[in-house]
Amino acid sequence: MKDKLHELGEQARGKMAEAGSLEELNEIRVRFLGKKGELTRILRGMGSLSAEERPRVGQVANEVRAALEEELAVRSASLKELVREQKLRSEGIDVTLPGSPGQRGGIHPLNAVLEEIQDIFLGLGYSIAEGPEIETDYYNFEALNLPKDHPARDMQDTFFISGEILLRTQTSPVQVRTMEKTAPELPVKIIAPGKVYRRDDDATHSPMFNQVEGLAVDRRITFSDLKGTLAHFAREMFGGKTITRFRPSYFPFTEPSAEVDVSCVMCGGKGCRVCSHTGWLEILGSGMVHPRVLEVSGYNSEDVTGFAFGMGIERIAMLKYGIDDMRLLFENDLRFLRQF
Ligand code: DAH
Repeated sequence: MKDKLHELGEQARGKMAEAGSLEELNEIRVRFLGKKGELTRILRGMGSLSAEERPRVGQVANEVRAALEEELAVRSASLKELVREQKLRSEGIDVTLPGSPGQRGGIHPLNAVLEEIQDIFLGLGYSIAEGPEIETDYYNFEALNLPKDHPARDMQDTFFISGEILLRTQTSPVQVRTMEKTAPELPVKIIAPGKVYRRDDDATHSPMFNQVEGLAVDRRITFSDLKGTLAHFAREMFGGKTITRFRPSYFPFTEPSAEVDVSCVMCGGKGCRVCSHTGWLEILGSGMVHPRVLEVSGYNSEDVTGFAFGMGIERIAMLKYGIDDMRLLFENDLRFLRQF
């Protein structure tokens, strides 16, 4: 029986050495050491042994069991290590492989144009002001010399939220808000960029668009200051050869008022499709701040004067880049945006 036990030990050890996986090793453990395993089977025969022999055989059986269990533990540990190594190898990252190139974002043409406009006016000593997009009737219209029944309100189809609250139709209310805050200090020199809203929607109008307002108020500001400033702006924006033209116009908050054209950026003034063969492109509205607007904002119109202007950023971007449909600026189509 002792021989049988030693033989079993040898056999089991040989199998364990051959085991290629933890599963196989476990099968071997069940087969030799399990409840219904071979060791148990041999020990069942102990009943036929003499009382002297029994403890000796029992001791050998225990030794064999202990030796096999130790062997099992060692084998199992090395198999586990093997599995770990294989896993590490298969999940490894080769840091020397070339990476996939990342996608780089770009500046939206509207923001590019806005940044350029801001740079030009910051260079002239202006600062940047802001106002709310949800505005009161008072600031959007009334303080700008557009009383409730004024026919010029029809020029701006308005989104009213309630009788007195609306989505601002222009950035001009920022003029009044800024002057109220600054008066009686002088000078006021600001530009005010931002979104405005009108009930308009076609290839050259969007219900939401962007404007930049300009305002300069001080003693002895004249129309020549307005002309010089805007001519400088046009040359910086559209190139040194650009010529400006002032046409008399009407805005309730300026007197006199003018619309400003630049020589066509496409044909240089010869006449082409973009300028409808006139050689000119309209870029903004402007004028001398109406005395009533100065007064409601806290300035003495006998003492100070000012000029103001307002331009649509989409329109400037369309002229500058030759874009023929304003909606392209809002559709976020990368095929379009990547061209800038
Ligand atoms: N707010 C006018 C508009 O949206 C544009 C404008 C015209 C602004 C003349 C001005 C200005 O400041 O002086 O149509």
